[in-house]
Amino acid sequence: MKILSGRAHVSLAERIAEFLGEPLAGVEIRQFPDGEIFVKIKDNIRGRDVYVVQPTCPPPNRNLMELLIMIDAARRASARRITAVIPYFGYARQDRKDQPRVPITAKLVANLVTSAGANRVLALDLHSQQIQGFFDIPVDHLTAAPVMVRALKALNLPRPIIVAPDTGGVKTAYAYAKVLGWGLAISAKQRKDAQVVEPLGVVGDVRDKDAVLVDDIISTGGTLCGAAAQLKEHGARSITAVVVHALVTEEGVRQLESSSIDRILTTDSVPPREWGRMAVEVHSVAELLGEAILRIHNNQSVTSLFQL
Ligand code: R5P
Repeated sequence: MKILSGRAHVSLAERIAEFLGEPLAGVEIRQFPDGEIFVKIKDNIRGRDVYVVQPTCPPPNRNLMELLIMIDAARRASARRITAVIPYFGYARQDRKDQPRVPITAKLVANLVTSAGANRVLALDLHSQQIQGFFDIPVDHLTAAPVMVRALKALNLPRPIIVAPDTGGVKTAYAYAKVLGWGLAISAKQRKDAQVVEPLGVVGDVRDKDAVLVDDIISTGGTLCGAAAQLKEHGARSITAVVVHALVTEEGVRQLESSSIDRILTTDSVPPREWGRMAVEVHSVAELLGEAILRIHNNQSVTSLFQL
């Protein structure tokens, strides 16, 4: 086995490698003055089972291109099998043609990863399940839910209720509610554009409850802040947000800090950022990804990793 890391999130790759008891393979990555990326794999990987760790988080275009170049380098270096380990799959929100003359960029990215030479993909909490089908190679789709559920239980919230922050998140929220044995509410929203979200109301009773919003991504914070404001109006007494991929922008941090959200639980699927005064717990998914890599390498089932 050889573990390679791009520049997107080296500390996560190091933690995965440490869990596996394997050093990261030597890779030289440079940028030419015109912005082009150069990759040279320094170790011999001929005949090896290679794992390229690279979330396609911001800056997405650079990180995606670097992932593709690394896969190509590994293929040309005669790796036996190449698994793209993508803890955060960018462009995932462009997964359908919901207006005329728009692309399905998530499908385009899946095609690029496959064409570059990946034989398998290991992903974590893809924005939608159907993205697995965009790949014509095997995809192991993990969820950080076991990590997040453990963290939620440790909070010992007295009157908890899970809340989906939009209708698209109901299925995931329901899965959390079922596992934890908690109730479920829905905060509805309408997205006006990438920056503006209009709250549309709350379905369910959150009065005097400790609301737990569950979402896959924070970007501008608009979805969570809008949902939190509605929950407060409906009488929620505390608000916790559980978000797997915290891609939050500067403006998002400011918005979230001045929102009614008391704390955020997230993972290190993307590089954790400085938050200022917001209470944020970052739970590592390195062990989960490492265990999945080990099982893929040994041709074992990964199903039990989903068990909560
Ligand atoms: C939307 O469908 C996603 O699950 C997230 O709710 C959304 O992408 C978060 O983005 P923002 O923080 O910009 O509202």
